[in-house]
Amino acid sequence: MNEGVSKKEQALRRFAANIGVFRCPICAAGFSANPGGVRCSDNHSFDLARKGYLNLFTGSQSTQYGKDLFLARKKVFAAGVYDPLIGEVSNSVRSLNAEVPFVLDAGCGEGSFLARLHGDVQNALLLGIDISRDGIGLAASHHEPVMWCVADITRLPLCSKSTDVVLNVLSPANYGEFQRILKPGGIIIKVLPGEDYLREIRQRLAGVAPYSNDEVITKLEDNISVRSRSSLHYEVNVTCELWEAMVQMTPLSQHREVSGEPPTSLTIDLQIIEGALI
Ligand SMILES: C[S@@+](CC[C@H](N)C(=O)[O-])C[C@H]1O[C@@H](n2cnc3c(N)ncnc32)[C@H](O)[C@@H]1O
Ligand SMILES: [Zn+2]
Repeated sequence: MNEGVSKKEQALRRFAANIGVFRCPICAAGFSANPGGVRCSDNHSFDLARKGYLNLFTGSQSTQYGKDLFLARKKVFAAGVYDPLIGEVSNSVRSLNAEVPFVLDAGCGEGSFLARLHGDVQNALLLGIDISRDGIGLAASHHEPVMWCVADITRLPLCSKSTDVVLNVLSPANYGEFQRILKPGGIIIKVLPGEDYLREIRQRLAGVAPYSNDEVITKLEDNISVRSRSSLHYEVNVTCELWEAMVQMTPLSQHREVSGEPPTSLTIDLQIIEGALI
């Protein structure tokens, strides 16, 4: 259908068709779309990159997540490591009572999660936001019709009460902003590591304390009304190549030496917490 139309043009059409959900991250005024990107009524303008993402972040990039980490995450997603998680989240989105649910992935990284989610919930309008230009640059190389923005979750470029689902997968949260943008009846789906997550990597790293998610859960419970919790605990078989990617994809192993023989399987232990506005 989009043959002969550049990636940038396709993205521009997608943003223009949904411009009403966005707002300026500087002054909160509404946007209008133009061939180069978007502009607010107060004249703040933001470019659409050739790759087809919108750059709505005005601060300086300082992140522990580099391009190699995102490339490794992309390989890990492609190997199916997170398929059971994507299946669970798809079910939650499908169970919503919305004809075209608007789903934000806040801290989407290189975008594989949303690109895969599109296959399961084709009626949804999908937006991935991340502060990393490297991450969003890779995200925009997916072919699925998802909108991608470089933006900060502490200052979301979205209108209040615009969003049906905030997805927050293994990423920092900003509950004040999540609450502001959620529609009444909207949900937050937070995915966090359980204490066995990537156990085999932790065991091979010097100086890594056992992981506890107690603090994250307390903060979450203070901010949203929890509707359901589930755990996903499974093993994935690892080849040498996948092991290398798994080690590279986690900030845990940055600046640390992984020692010992690679394992033959790796533990995935995730908690999925679903909640609504308090
Ligand atoms: C561990 S990665 C997870 C990425 C993705 N959800 C996934 O599962 O592959 C955490 C992500 O949070 C992003 N992040 C950190 N602080 C952020 C902020 N203030 N605004 C937007 N994204 C942020 C990072 O750039 C990184 O991509
Ligand atoms: Zn503005």
